[in-house]
Amino acid sequence: MNRSSAPDAEPGTESDRLAERVREIEPQQIRVMFELASEYERETPDSDLVHLEFGEPDFDTPDRVVQAAVEAARNGATNYTSNAGLPKLRDAIAAKLSSERNRAVDPDSEVVVTNGGVEALHLAIHAVADPGEEVVVPTPAWPNPISQAKLAAAVPVEVPMPADRGFEPDPERIVNAIGPDTAAVLLTSPSNPTGRVFPAEAVERVVAAAADHGAYVLADEVYRELAYAELPPRAAALTDRDEWVLSINSCSKTYAMTGWRVGWLSGPADVLSQVETIHESTTSCVNTPAQYAAVEALTGPQEPFEEMRAAFRERRDYVVDRLESIPHVSAAEPEGAFYAFIDVSAFDGSSAEIAKRLLYDYEVVAAPGTAFGAGGEGHLRLSFANDLARLETGLDRLEKMVQTELNGE
Ligand SMILES: Cc1ncc(COP(=O)(O)O)c(C=O)c1O
Repeated sequence: MNRSSAPDAEPGTESDRLAERVREIEPQQIRVMFELASEYERETPDSDLVHLEFGEPDFDTPDRVVQAAVEAARNGATNYTSNAGLPKLRDAIAAKLSSERNRAVDPDSEVVVTNGGVEALHLAIHAVADPGEEVVVPTPAWPNPISQAKLAAAVPVEVPMPADRGFEPDPERIVNAIGPDTAAVLLTSPSNPTGRVFPAEAVERVVAAAADHGAYVLADEVYRELAYAELPPRAAALTDRDEWVLSINSCSKTYAMTGWRVGWLSGPADVLSQVETIHESTTSCVNTPAQYAAVEALTGPQEPFEEMRAAFRERRDYVVDRLESIPHVSAAEPEGAFYAFIDVSAFDGSSAEIAKRLLYDYEVVAAPGTAFGAGGEGHLRLSFANDLARLETGLDRLEKMVQTELNGE
């Protein structure tokens, strides 16, 4: 960039001191709500906010997993690992992926351990998108990949899914958005924020169209294990052109390990070898004891995680039932993840204004729909990663808001 010609920056001003790419990144609206809620709690000591904005399991990491990290650190596992990650962890990941695929995944060349799914996405986008190329993002979508595309000087192309069909994934719209400039197409299934799952045929269609254009599918499967019907097939297992699929996975949601920061990227060896190289310049490797914890999560007893899943399902059913009984609001049934994306368009104002009224007048914190792209206007994302009693209180208060603002009570 020619510094004297930054488009909207006065020379010598603060924005002139920042890279143009960085100036384009806005604070996430989910984070903004969290900050407003924290400020409210500081200023209103007797407040009783129901937090339904969080995107992380409310369970503690099971003790065996914590112990594995403690023991590893005590036994001297305190050095860097290779850029690609601990061999034992890559073996466990490859074994899991191979059991879900129609071919064996090579732990040495087709898996890189990353700092959560978020870094897997960051590395994938940086590895495949050239400046000016497009990254197709079906929305509503978790906003991070949009910022990551901008940081890579690529162009995020938002493709709204149909609001009138509960944001059901529409492969036609996605395929139509793929063109000669497309470097990558994001498929997040189950979706954050809608909880919708891509049917196998939809995934197949999108992968085929992307491959025809020499574009990669970024299959974000971090919520896959939290699908409430059958386990959705992995995108890479649905195609014989898996050289165009980069899969993003993580311990965060499945194993209640958000703070440990362990995820992974899997895909074709030629791309992954370069990803391994650029991983050196982002974070080098993932925290070593955390990688041992991930080995235990993947290979140890699965009962604690099954119990968490059962709890999420019970809450999902409760939230769906309650929303059906509240007039003027509705949501498509979440098929996975732990969010309900509620249509609140009957209320006055933008989704950001509605979220603020819900916070200040009813003490419930939710994320405004526009945090997930313009197509999310008129919606709120409510997370059910909270216990049933708090969910009941939160939904009672939403019902009260409906009665007060829409039923004139
Ligand atoms: C859709 C989606 N993908 C990826 C991630 C990344 O999670 P983590 O980096 O904790 O693995 C998140 C986190 O909220 C998410 O919602």
